[in-house]
Amino acid sequence: MSSFQELAPFLAANWPIVCVAVVVIALVYFLSMKSEKQKEKLTPKENTKIPSPQDKGEHPLSEFAEEKQDPNEAPPLHDANTAHVLFKFERLPEKEMMTRSRDFYENLNQRRSIRFFSKDLIPEGVLENIVRAAGTAPSGAHSEPWTFVVVRDPKIKLQIREIVEQEEFTNYERRMGDKWVQDLQFVKTDHVKPYLEDAPAIILVMKQQYHIDENNVKYPHYYFEISTAIAAGMLITAIHVAGLVTVTTTPLNAGVALRELLGRPSNEKVMLLLPVGYPADDATVPDITRKPLDKIVVFK
Ligand SMILES: Cc1cc2nc3c(=O)[nH]c(=O)nc-3n(C[C@H](O)[C@H](O)[C@H](O)COP(=O)(O)O)c2cc1C
Repeated sequence: MSSFQELAPFLAANWPIVCVAVVVIALVYFLSMKSEKQKEKLTPKENTKIPSPQDKGEHPLSEFAEEKQDPNEAPPLHDANTAHVLFKFERLPEKEMMTRSRDFYENLNQRRSIRFFSKDLIPEGVLENIVRAAGTAPSGAHSEPWTFVVVRDPKIKLQIREIVEQEEFTNYERRMGDKWVQDLQFVKTDHVKPYLEDAPAIILVMKQQYHIDENNVKYPHYYFEISTAIAAGMLITAIHVAGLVTVTTTPLNAGVALRELLGRPSNEKVMLLLPVGYPADDATVPDITRKPLDKIVVFK
């Protein structure tokens, strides 16, 4: 007797159980094949520079993990054969070094955030020099991932004020929470910001997550956050050194509306908004002190 003939009575009696068992085995087999294929896809190819999803948020290229085009396929940002030239450098006498560094610190120590502006105009060319100074900042792989949008048009300043005030109202009411609002009380700010119309200029510091050239090639920008933040620090310093004032502001939740108002592309995000001009005659500042050297430095 063949083995099938032996099994026939068993199968006839238990066919529903047998059918279920066959379906379960087929399902398990199908799922295990699928997971093998997924594992293969996730295994990084040799020399792959795009980070794995686990790296998200830690790697300078993490912002590109979700982008369709692989920015690693773009040609080098700069010519690999870029010439290296002699760096011209003149050492200062020690006394001069001491005087300059002390004077620079004392000058910067006069900088304050100003929230009351005169409507007086800024002399022609000064804003250009200020932005030039910010543009000398170092940047990851010299990607220069910043744009400075200088707004002087009163109509656009009014629109900026409307966008910022509307969002700031909700920020103070709901988004920031009691603790944050409490910590800001010494500054005496609220959602009303007349300085956005009074200041003769507003500079918006935009950080570029990546760059797309005229041929639609996408280039990665490395450490664009920190690079743009360094440039912003230099911009604030340049504003002060030029004899003008500003207040560093972060327009929470207003970034997209501002970017669209200014007609800037989606690879740019608003990092800071800086009104620039002269202080109003009756401008006041909170009477705060700065941490002394021994609280901000550790020499080893
Ligand atoms: C990242 C950052 C965000 C800030 N955001 C605001 C802001 O939204 N509104 C504001 O009035 N000041 C803002 N400030 C200014 C601070 O309140 C100010 O720098 C601080 O009180 C110290 O005062 P000083 O700049 O006069 O030394 C901000 C400063 C920084 C660095």
